[in-house]
Amino acid sequence: MRLTILGGGGFRVPLVYGALLGDHAEGRVTRVVLYDEDAARLGAMARVLADQAAAAGVPDAPAVTATTDLDEALRGADFVFSAIRVGGLEGRAADERVALAEGVLGQETVGAGGIAYGLRTVPVAREIARRIARTAPEAWVINFTNPAGIVTEAMAEELGGRVIGICDSPVGLGRRIARLVGARPQDAWIDYVGLNHLGWVRGLHVGGRDELPRLLADDGALESFEEGRLFGAQWLRSLGAVPNEYLHYYYFNRDTVRAYREAARTRGAFLRDQQRGFYAQAGRPGQPAGAALAAWDRTRAEREATYMAENREVAGVGERDDSDLESGGYEKVALALMRAIARDERATLILNVRNGSTLSVLDAEAVIEVPCLVDANGAHPVGVAPLPLHAVGLVTSVKAVEREVLGAAASGSRATAVKAFALHPLVDSVGVARRLLDGYAAVHPGLAYLR
Ligand code: G6P
Ligand code: MN
Repeated sequence: MRLTILGGGGFRVPLVYGALLGDHAEGRVTRVVLYDEDAARLGAMARVLADQAAAAGVPDAPAVTATTDLDEALRGADFVFSAIRVGGLEGRAADERVALAEGVLGQETVGAGGIAYGLRTVPVAREIARRIARTAPEAWVINFTNPAGIVTEAMAEELGGRVIGICDSPVGLGRRIARLVGARPQDAWIDYVGLNHLGWVRGLHVGGRDELPRLLADDGALESFEEGRLFGAQWLRSLGAVPNEYLHYYYFNRDTVRAYREAARTRGAFLRDQQRGFYAQAGRPGQPAGAALAAWDRTRAEREATYMAENREVAGVGERDDSDLESGGYEKVALALMRAIARDERATLILNVRNGSTLSVLDAEAVIEVPCLVDANGAHPVGVAPLPLHAVGLVTSVKAVEREVLGAAASGSRATAVKAFALHPLVDSVGVARRLLDGYAAVHPGLAYLR
């Protein structure tokens, strides 16, 4: 099996390679092709992966090659992971900064920042999807590129069900709450649905019983995991559900905007500076064996420990717990997905796929995040209970915004882009929306196509 990683110089690639190193079963990935526009980042990453393979000491480590030629990377691929960041972390920092200067949320994927990121990324994702359709029409495409919901929907226009979007946040949440009620994650049925970074756990079924009401009644249990502390027991009981952590930006919007504006640096600016250091170090020639991997490990630990730090501050909670630090399993979801497809081993995973008839308030093409049955035929959403009205409101508003982003990216219309910003529930004025677009257009070369 051959896996091509687009954005192969990206920081999370070693997570994926680490998972592959642990897979010795039939049908495993034997060859990894890293593709990136940036040869220096590719070089640094190739070093980290070589260190990982040496440290693992396994005889069957997947061979790694790297290229800056997209068609060469795609040719012969069985699986394509798309994990690119259009505009880099500098672009992410600008997405955050411009919005916060207008007094609205500036965040990687949520609100105005996510819209700007989507407007930059969708044209690139569509082009990649066309290239895949031409060069590797049989390949399965697993999209990590954010904003993952919009980007997966854009790529599905070309690739249909051959593109599947993934995110670690619902999986991590499911795993944490399953453990809290004493179940192994694989034995729990998580009733979760929504859009990417906008979903709710409404049921936690173990051995035929819904354990969620018991969990919601238990103050001690709610205090002991990240989402419980972020939202607080009272609010979770009011909702009767556990929201994805990204809903903190909605339910505590004013508070998070204030904390983000007061922070010394935005998340994107922090990561930009941190990663500059990492790539300079890992890319340096003549380093001793293991040095690049050690640098990566240190950087990753610091990155994970500071994830959503301002949100935790708003909630008045301290550091992340060890259980929160355990990766939600971004790479584990990816591997489980590939395995189910390649070996036709049925698995249930929360994924981003076309709605079909799952949520009656959305059309069939809308990409949603939902538990899916996966096998060699792809990922198929399972039936879920309808959303309560408050969630229908958010999901349909945000999907409407996503459609304007897709429309603006296709037509190049500024008016449509303004409409995307203006319709977002976290943007409170059409005037603000217009200024946001002007602000973003001034700093992002990737938005020059908007007229
Ligand atoms: C989670 C989300 C990703 C997001 C990331 C941001 O893993 O699922 O979609 O990109 O967090 O984390 P960062 O460390 O980059 O702020
Ligand atoms: Mn995500």
